[in-house]
Amino acid sequence: ASTLREAGEKANPPILIGAAISGGGLGNNDYKRVAGAEHSYVTAENEMKWDSLEPSAGNFSWGSADNIVNWARQNNMKIKGHTLVWHNQLPGWMSSMTGKDNVTAAMRRHITQVMGHFKDRVDTWDVVNEAVQTDSDTGVGNPRMRPSVFLNQIGENYIDLAFQIAREQDPKAKLYYNDYSIDARNAKVDFVYNMVKGMVDRGVPIDGVGFQMHIGPPNNEATGADVAANMKRFTDLGLEVLISEMDINRCGGVVTAEEQLAYYHDIVEACFKLPKCTAITFWGINDGRSWLNSWSGALCNGQSSQSLLFNDQYGKKETYNRVMNAL
Ligand code: XIL
Repeated sequence: ASTLREAGEKANPPILIGAAISGGGLGNNDYKRVAGAEHSYVTAENEMKWDSLEPSAGNFSWGSADNIVNWARQNNMKIKGHTLVWHNQLPGWMSSMTGKDNVTAAMRRHITQVMGHFKDRVDTWDVVNEAVQTDSDTGVGNPRMRPSVFLNQIGENYIDLAFQIAREQDPKAKLYYNDYSIDARNAKVDFVYNMVKGMVDRGVPIDGVGFQMHIGPPNNEATGADVAANMKRFTDLGLEVLISEMDINRCGGVVTAEEQLAYYHDIVEACFKLPKCTAITFWGINDGRSWLNSWSGALCNGQSSQSLLFNDQYGKKETYNRVMNAL
């Protein structure tokens, strides 16, 4: 294969190779060329989050999301809607809402309107994102349901409810739970496993689990063997699994260059070898635009995170070659 996308399409069963795409990125021709040539799956980096789509109550703003979705379709790419229910990038009017009935109605309206708008264009969704928190981002210690307007006003049942509403809106869509620091075995992923198993046992319409796979500061590290063993138990529940936001942060010197190459190869291979691992999405295209560069938790202090597969001139890095070798 001469592109990641082609390697994924030739696999048996085929595997989607994705990237987080930003509206800003699509303003650059090199970005557009590499993004379209190398990937078959798109997640909008920010444009389909609640604050972007419903900035004020009941008033939806589709323009920047439509631009990404339409560009993806012109390039024959599938799209994952990211994300319907999340505590972050939630507008103030929503995060400050009180009353179980109010919050339930607002959640129902958001899911219904957003999935309705993109119906026939988007058929995979992150329904709930990052609903579990721990004492630190490494995922070790005291996992619990994360406080949010949804948990606080509706109760734990909000997760089941979100999936049920999504299923009513689109009987054929794939519905996913997505989270970070659940990539290797730790207390957080054990908690998520039990939560998801409970959903499956109760007949909640969940189709799969997305493992964000942000490796390096401030998240955990995970070897290919960890990832393989961990994903396997989720597929044993009858679910699909996906690598949904992969990047490997070199800032702070925590992950060496050699480790980064090994992780990229071995983790991609772990998904590739698991028939029910259906997609691998990288969280960006080129290092210069990585969210990690400017995110305080990532220890970059203005330096490049060197976390992705393409350099600032959109050339292929050694990380690209290692990923290609694993496919
Ligand atoms: C990040 C974006 O990349 C940034 O541009 C934005 O400022 C914050 O959100 N987990 C997720 C993604 O599910 O939506 C986040 O994306 C990264 C962590």
